[in-house]
Amino acid sequence: MSAVCVGSADELKEAGRKVFDLEGTEIGVFHHEGAFYAWHNNCPHQGGPVCQGRLFRLVEEEVEANRETRGRRYHESRVNIVCPWHGIEYDVKTGQFPGNPAMALTPAKVYVENGEVFLDV
Ligand code: FES
Repeated sequence: MSAVCVGSADELKEAGRKVFDLEGTEIGVFHHEGAFYAWHNNCPHQGGPVCQGRLFRLVEEEVEANRETRGRRYHESRVNIVCPWHGIEYDVKTGQFPGNPAMALTPAKVYVENGEVFLDV
């Protein structure tokens, strides 16, 4: 495993997300709520380019005991990456699919040193 510098922390914070091709290994780096997260760009469903999917806040819907709903709302902080191939969503922080936490993205080690972002690949 070797460390690869992928750019300045400030630039990646500004971008919010960037996908890198590191000699054939694609990794998406995301900045969310003050921290960096990195995931292999390979959806566990059927291998889609998940890190290039749209980012949406988690949608919640309360269902009352009488089965009426109070409408939908967006979670204040939880954000999901939506895989562009079939729409499965993964939490940007944990990489888990909320409907089945056992289904998750493969993490990559990401860290900041002297203002630069590094990935261990
Ligand atoms: S390949 Fe990602 S949802 Fe199917």
